[in-house]
Amino acid sequence: MDRLSFWKEKIENRLRELFTPQEPRELFEAMSYYLFQPGKRIRPLVTVAVANALGGSQEDAITVGCAIEMVHNYSLIHDDLPAMDNDDFRRGLPSCHRKYGEALAILAGDALLTYAFEVLSRDGVFEELSPKEIIKVMNVIAVKSGISGMVGGQALDVGEETDLELVNRKKTASLFEACFMCGGLVSHREELLNELEEVGGEFGLLFQLTDDILDRDGFYTLLGEKKAKDKAENIYTHLLKRLKELLPRETEEIEALVEMVYNRIT
Ligand code: IPE
Ligand code: IPE
Ligand code: MG
Ligand code: MG
Ligand code: MG
Repeated sequence: MDRLSFWKEKIENRLRELFTPQEPRELFEAMSYYLFQPGKRIRPLVTVAVANALGGSQEDAITVGCAIEMVHNYSLIHDDLPAMDNDDFRRGLPSCHRKYGEALAILAGDALLTYAFEVLSRDGVFEELSPKEIIKVMNVIAVKSGISGMVGGQALDVGEETDLELVNRKKTASLFEACFMCGGLVSHREELLNELEEVGGEFGLLFQLTDDILDRDGFYTLLGEKKAKDKAENIYTHLLKRLKELLPRETEEIEALVEMVYNRIT
């Protein structure tokens, strides 16, 4: 088994441990629906890979990554709603609102978001993080998920904003910034936060650019295939260089994740 598959299995197991059945049953099922479909789990994988490169606690990185994965899946449920992208399918299956109805899909998203913070604030959930570090992790995830991050970006995306790079940086790259920053926090390296935020932003921009090229929208529509792919190649090359400068050891995992994202369009 390669390293990323190894971590992915650990992430799947931890998600199931952290996310236990609750009432009302139908709401719990709607919350579980996207969360336990076969997603790439790239956000928790990034969090663990950064922690590994900085010598941080792998267990704590997995827990933080799982909370970010809950936020991500909430964002997908809401993104697919008729009022947003109006998508009937996700990952080859009916979207959450197609299966459970709009009201329950909205509520499932709301409850996944709050569940993430319930997990992060749960007694004894972290092995090494101090209470102060836990608060910082929660603050980073809240900021990067909310008005100045993902939700703000989604608002720009449905509005009149024409600066696509700004939209993508906020709606998608923000959560990757959180993954990189939290990888630093579980490694007790708060002094690296600004640089981790910067490379996380580049990683996230590359991610959304490749998503746009695959979906034939966003940057693909704006720039055309050739220029969109050239832009992705430039970000990819610069990102690998920055990662080597910033991370002192075991960069193979984070580099493999960058390759995985870039190879989607090559
Ligand atoms: C899709 O994210 C939404 C975007 C931000 C482009 P992913 O491609 O990471 O979704 P899953 O979880 O792997 O399906
Ligand atoms: C989604 O962007 C960004 C989110 C914050 C959910 P997209 O709308 O391009 O994502 P997909 O293509 O539906 O997965
Ligand atoms: Mg969208
Ligand atoms: Mg969408
Ligand atoms: Mg898309």
